[in-house]
Amino acid sequence: MPEKRIALRNCGIVDPRDIASYRKAGGFTAFMKARDTMKPDQIIDEIKKSGLTGRGGAGFSCGLKWELAGNTKSSRKYLICNADEGEVGTFKDRYILTHDPYGLIEGMCIAGLAIGATKGFIYLRAEYHALFNLLSDAIVESKRNGFMSHMDIKVFEGAGAYICGEESALMNSIEGRRGESRFKPPYPPIQGLWGRPTIINNVETLMNVPYIIKNGAAAFSAIGTGRSKGTKVFSVSGDVERPGVYELTMGSSLNELVVDLAGAQGIKAIQIGGATGNILPGRKIDTPLSHETCLGSGAVVVFNQTRNIVDIVHNNILFLHDESCGKCTPCRDGLEAMKEIFDRLVKGEGIQEDIRVLEELSKVMSLASLCGLGQAAPVPVMDSLKFFREEYTNLIQQSAYVRNYTAQGLSVTL
Ligand SMILES: Cc1cc2nc3c(=O)[nH]c(=O)nc-3n(C[C@H](O)[C@H](O)[C@H](O)COP(=O)(O)O)c2cc1C
Repeated sequence: MPEKRIALRNCGIVDPRDIASYRKAGGFTAFMKARDTMKPDQIIDEIKKSGLTGRGGAGFSCGLKWELAGNTKSSRKYLICNADEGEVGTFKDRYILTHDPYGLIEGMCIAGLAIGATKGFIYLRAEYHALFNLLSDAIVESKRNGFMSHMDIKVFEGAGAYICGEESALMNSIEGRRGESRFKPPYPPIQGLWGRPTIINNVETLMNVPYIIKNGAAAFSAIGTGRSKGTKVFSVSGDVERPGVYELTMGSSLNELVVDLAGAQGIKAIQIGGATGNILPGRKIDTPLSHETCLGSGAVVVFNQTRNIVDIVHNNILFLHDESCGKCTPCRDGLEAMKEIFDRLVKGEGIQEDIRVLEELSKVMSLASLCGLGQAAPVPVMDSLKFFREEYTNLIQQSAYVRNYTAQGLSVTL
């Protein structure tokens, strides 16, 4: 199936440095329609009816979130675009920001009208510093052209921590506090940045907003599956011939994405959604990509037959262990214990008991961690134990043989 471009509609078509080029392609007509002909609750209603869900990972209804913030009384409300994009293997937001900054600003301007925000932030991943001027210039131009009389937008550069992509840690970061997750409730639409109602949306989520307002909710909700409407932008990397950013209708199969478009062959496993994402074996290639199955941030990393699954999960755990904010015990100590086990496993010092301990730790962490990092960290561990258990048991058995032989003073070559 060919790509269907909604979020990426202007990428490669408009000049990202020229507002006139964006306007020539129909840019800001959706904003003017919203501003001149719709009331805030009509905008929210249209987004609700479209079925647009968050593209940053959690997949929550965008319209419901906006409604909550819209209905909360406050003299000041905030809108934050989450452009932290720290998820391993995810680079679609960078692609969007590079090629269509005005598309994002138009989406933010409409969101600001809908919820009544007077101040907006683009929380930009520290490593995307090269995009700072492009985005800041686009804000200045949009203001000069009269599209931002209701709201100011500022680009805020992140501090380079994965946890700061988590919405509550992100707000702490903007407030100048340590990047740690907050206890929830209260949720940001009620009490967010500096205690005020705040909407936090991913870049890709906001890119869909002008399309929906311009073409109507029905045009968007007609595409996709039951719970997953519209399209999804994927970042595909790993053992593929054509790595890159692809936009497909929700519900398209993994095969269409990684084989037909990205040219993968001899697939052993695919990780979907980053370091805390599902790991599927190659035989699950017909899995549809949607919130109902697996999606996350849209990172898709392909591994061929030469890859070692325990090594892959070890890498995930090393990353998450480094990036855990340490605020809650299940995530902090759970990842410490998982790292210790995986370090031993790959050194050939694993024992059978390690598998049981990994499974128990996974249960506790997913149930008791404060935020998505600790809650989802066990996902690749559990999936790899489900689909590639023999890689763990073979490694442990091999290690036991080696220990046995070396204890007898014999040398072993594996
Ligand atoms: C550890 C962690 C990192 C996250 N990083 C990002 C990120 O880089 N970008 C993003 O949009 N969402 C990220 N999220 C999800 C956000 O917390 C939040 O759900 C999202 O920004 C909401 O926007 P959406 O509803 O448009 O998806 C992360 C979540 C967790 C737990």
